[in-house]
Amino acid sequence: MAANSREKIIVIDFGGQYNQLVARRVRENHVYCEIYSYRTPLEEIRAMNPKGIILTGGPNSVYEENAATCSRELFELGIPVLGLCYGAQLMSQVLGGKVAKAPVREYGKIEVTVDKSSAIFSNVSEKTVCWMSHNDYIEKAAEGFKITAHTNDCPVAAAENREKNLYLIQFHPEVLHTVEGKKMLSNFVYKVCGCAGDWKMDAFAEEQIKAIREKVGNGKVLCALSGGVDSSVAAVLLSKAVGEQLTCVFVDHGLLRKNESEEVESVFGPGGNYNLNFIRVDARHRFYVKLAGVSEPEQKRKIIGEEFIRVFEEEAKKIGKVDFLVQGTIYPDVVESGLGGESAVIKSHHNVGGLPDYVDFKEIIEPLRDLFKDEVRKVGLELGIPDYLVFRQPFPGPGLGIRIVGDVTEDKVRIVQDADYIYRHEVEKAANEYAYKAAEESGTPLDKEAPDHALLRSFWPSWMPDQYFAALTNMRSVGVMGDERTYDYAVALRGVKTIDFMTAESAEIPYSVLQTVMNRIINEVKGVNRVMFDLTSKPPGTIELE
Ligand code: XMP
Repeated sequence: MAANSREKIIVIDFGGQYNQLVARRVRENHVYCEIYSYRTPLEEIRAMNPKGIILTGGPNSVYEENAATCSRELFELGIPVLGLCYGAQLMSQVLGGKVAKAPVREYGKIEVTVDKSSAIFSNVSEKTVCWMSHNDYIEKAAEGFKITAHTNDCPVAAAENREKNLYLIQFHPEVLHTVEGKKMLSNFVYKVCGCAGDWKMDAFAEEQIKAIREKVGNGKVLCALSGGVDSSVAAVLLSKAVGEQLTCVFVDHGLLRKNESEEVESVFGPGGNYNLNFIRVDARHRFYVKLAGVSEPEQKRKIIGEEFIRVFEEEAKKIGKVDFLVQGTIYPDVVESGLGGESAVIKSHHNVGGLPDYVDFKEIIEPLRDLFKDEVRKVGLELGIPDYLVFRQPFPGPGLGIRIVGDVTEDKVRIVQDADYIYRHEVEKAANEYAYKAAEESGTPLDKEAPDHALLRSFWPSWMPDQYFAALTNMRSVGVMGDERTYDYAVALRGVKTIDFMTAESAEIPYSVLQTVMNRIINEVKGVNRVMFDLTSKPPGTIELE
């Protein structure tokens, strides 16, 4: 579908922390949404032909010199605009209202009184709890604006110029603390912008397959498959579109989780579920040789990244000239790399994927470029990819290489794989038992033989970590087993709750589960005589150990 004919809303990013959340909320309403920097020229915005525009929050004050701004013409395009927080203040200032430092700073959950006759507050309670976070406030709304919400300390918590379709909200409807926020955004999308809401995942997969087929023609396509959800979904889309014109190269660098290499091969390899050329490269030995004796974390990452590229390049050369290279880039990568919004580049991780400099190809295909992670998962399920691949935990490109503190050896890899396998198995078992019971109690019992995994997960206990794994410390200590003295390694268990992986808290996994894990690891994994739980939050720790 042509980019400007698809119904969409655009989010204009002023650098606030919830900007991706705004876009996700819009998409939850089945309306496609993209984020653009506030620096995007007005002509480009007009050419996109959006059904609506949302201005986000931002860290500055609108009256500061060099503060991020927008032109008055943005409000004269005839396109509905909703300003949130900073965006609300900016709209007011640009249109002639007054923004000033608030006499009382509002932060946290605050009761707001709304005018229910406003389209934005249709079906919202008159008194509703909203999330406020502002130092400035709109002292005087711009001319033509009617105030539609207030709090005790904030005279203009929302306002609108109905005739011009301009709306502003001082608080944050996109965060869940705003109890009826989803309703407000849905009202903007449907009641103000008049969207039809036809952005659906099954349509997405079909649309992509058709578009890929047209683009690729008879060309040859190469994909670096890591077994992670993004590259797996990208590979399956491609295989559905062009079948054996696609070759997937899966590099086993010897730093994968237990059985992972076999699992990926059983899904994508010969006799698996898909029609494609699958090459599994057993490069384990090469990586172990390169890593021998290296203990500095950054150097390890570099060696793994470079060696990976070399292996991939060698395989690509054997295939000869390819026309297209597939990458599993997803929307947050696009935004984070600074191509979309304003958010700063936080980190540049090694991902088993982007290798354009090293392979002779014509063009890159990024079929998931527009999607958020949960949307990629939906497409994956839609395409029939097994649940365990679709819901796999994030796994770093350098793999166990950064979960083994110090130098990497084949034996240490074996230890960490075995300990991690036990840990994951026991935690998932306990979470599932809890979930089956909770589902039963709520009147929606799950089929234990063939459960709906998404539903099962929705009943998991609140302690279930978003990411958890075993790592190997570089510490050996004295223990006793039977009547024998031991001098073995300590395994560190990590388990964190996180929303965006930028910050994280240690998950409160029940002691009984941890104890079972400890017992099993000590008894079953040779070379380990201590098991510890890493309580550190992020910051100051990182999720991985190196
Ligand atoms: P940290 O350790 O930085 O991890 O707190 C945050 C998230 O990123 C993952 N991670 C990586 N992912 N390549 C990746 O693809 C990497 O080099 C890498 N390092 C960390 C980590 O697993 C966590 O989910």
